[in-house]
Amino acid sequence: WPTNPTSFRAHVAEYCQSLRGLALLLTEAISESLGLDKDYISRQLGKHGQQMALNYYPPCPQPDLTYGLPGHTDGYLITILLQDEVSGLQVFKNGQWVAVDPVPNTFVINIGDQIQVMSNDKYKSGLHRAVVNCEKERISIPTFYCPSPDAVIGPAPELVTNDGRAVYRQFTFEEYHHTMWKDGLKKCLDTFLAT
Ligand code: OGA
Ligand code: NI
Repeated sequence: WPTNPTSFRAHVAEYCQSLRGLALLLTEAISESLGLDKDYISRQLGKHGQQMALNYYPPCPQPDLTYGLPGHTDGYLITILLQDEVSGLQVFKNGQWVAVDPVPNTFVINIGDQIQVMSNDKYKSGLHRAVVNCEKERISIPTFYCPSPDAVIGPAPELVTNDGRAVYRQFTFEEYHHTMWKDGLKKCLDTFLAT
């Protein structure tokens, strides 16, 4: 941990704990929206996991020649994104890239691949990317809430019964995580389709 500023560690700890609470609240709402018990998703996550990134996008004189982050979906459960006042995030919607401009004091919530699997495709993990700006630097802080590596992930049995089929097979989150990074963060959901 950096020792300067001295308050850094305590503030990050407090932030992470608060975001854990928010992530759990969101998983409850998503569970209920699927007609499942409100603690259904939380119970599938093993010991649970949480990761945070600090993204720094320097200004770029030729923004059309590069990306901050190329198009991807988040391979975790849900992402809670804190961004500063500089635009950069875009989502792919109706065949085109749409800017998600920052709203002060507001998080952007992204559905990740694991929710898509558990919901048996009712929720879709959204394709998004970050572009750079020619004048301003940009900072964003995503929190990725996730299962622990040993957690077994698969479509909720209740939804499989209702839908008549499971879209995805079961896997451990460790297996998914490994596949995702091996292929350079490419969307790897297709690797886990039921046969
Ligand atoms: C990510 C991400 C977007 C952003 O880190 O997965 O999509 O605006 N970040 O930095
Ligand atoms: Ni992302």
